[in-house]
Amino acid sequence: MVVPSNHPMIELRRLFRFYGKTKAVNDVSFHVNAGQVFGFIGPNGAGKTTTMRILATLDTPDYGDALIDGFSVINDPDRVRRRMGFMPDDYGTYPNMNCLEYLDFFARSYGLVGRERMKAIRYTLGYTGLDKIAEKSIQGLSKGMRQRLCLGRAMIHRPAVLILDEPANGLDPRARIELRQMVLGLAAEGTSLLISSHILSELGEMCDSLGIIERGCMIVSGTVQEIQSRLMPHTNLKMKVIEQQQKLVEWLSVQDGVDAVAVDGTMVRCQILGAKSDREQAALLRAIVHEGFDVIEFSTEGQTLEDVFMRITTGAVQ
Ligand SMILES: Nc1ncnc2c1ncn2[C@@H]1O[C@H](COP(=O)(O)OP(=O)(O)OP(=O)(O)O)[C@@H](O)[C@H]1O
Ligand SMILES: [Mg+2]
Repeated sequence: MVVPSNHPMIELRRLFRFYGKTKAVNDVSFHVNAGQVFGFIGPNGAGKTTTMRILATLDTPDYGDALIDGFSVINDPDRVRRRMGFMPDDYGTYPNMNCLEYLDFFARSYGLVGRERMKAIRYTLGYTGLDKIAEKSIQGLSKGMRQRLCLGRAMIHRPAVLILDEPANGLDPRARIELRQMVLGLAAEGTSLLISSHILSELGEMCDSLGIIERGCMIVSGTVQEIQSRLMPHTNLKMKVIEQQQKLVEWLSVQDGVDAVAVDGTMVRCQILGAKSDREQAALLRAIVHEGFDVIEFSTEGQTLEDVFMRITTGAVQ
């Protein structure tokens, strides 16, 4: 099936879920199109897992609806499950089973039979890099290998939508990079992904859009660039040139959008209005070099996703 690129594969329509007085999800709406990766960020207890569990048909909303590929989790949970794979943050593994048997079990649960099932298992083992340890007992797997197996289990029926609850949790740097590559590979094939994490900088690298949630409410959502522009009024640059430091200050101070320039030891610090994209920063660097300055350092300061996150969340729990 060819899905138009603007077709929402995941759609939340004014979703509410209360546990007694706790407003775990309080009027959350967003959508994710085909082949898009949406990052869900929020402090502990913000409502990420509750939202994801509703999308995975494991819980039901009090009000509102959630749709996967246009099918409602309330009215059409079976159709939703066929199109969606869920990787929970706390997953059970089964003793006395190896990776192959584990994936075979889930492939059967999804009704895959015969050659089709073998093909799905082989593809999944290959994609997750578990083919060489297919017959290894699950109990003997490292954390990273278990995460891979769990991703494999979620994707065994090749769903159009994947919901991953903190998949990078506890992974070492190499395993995180590998996870990112797997996520980007799936998105390139057209899969839509919703991923939650506390590792903000990494979400920025693999997500097209982000949503920041706190105490059940979506505080801000949009592309990484949009969020940075909205919440970071300035871009702070730091650069070092060979000699000509004062001349660089003078040149920068008359450039468009430059708000403040100052010498700080061996560095020149420059504040520009608005969040500048990588391309815009590269263009400025090119202009400085073209002007004849010998630049040996050029970097941005203090506008990471962590900064945005710390700025707009209060850390309050409920
Ligand atoms: N089954 C439940 N019964 C009662 N309260 C619940 C239940 N599930 C979640 N909550 C509450 O709902 C709120 C949101 O929890 P949720 O697990 O969705 O947060 P989260 O964003 O996933 O947090 P974390 O980053 O710690 O995983 C919390 O206050 C939590 O205590
Ligand atoms: Mg959670």
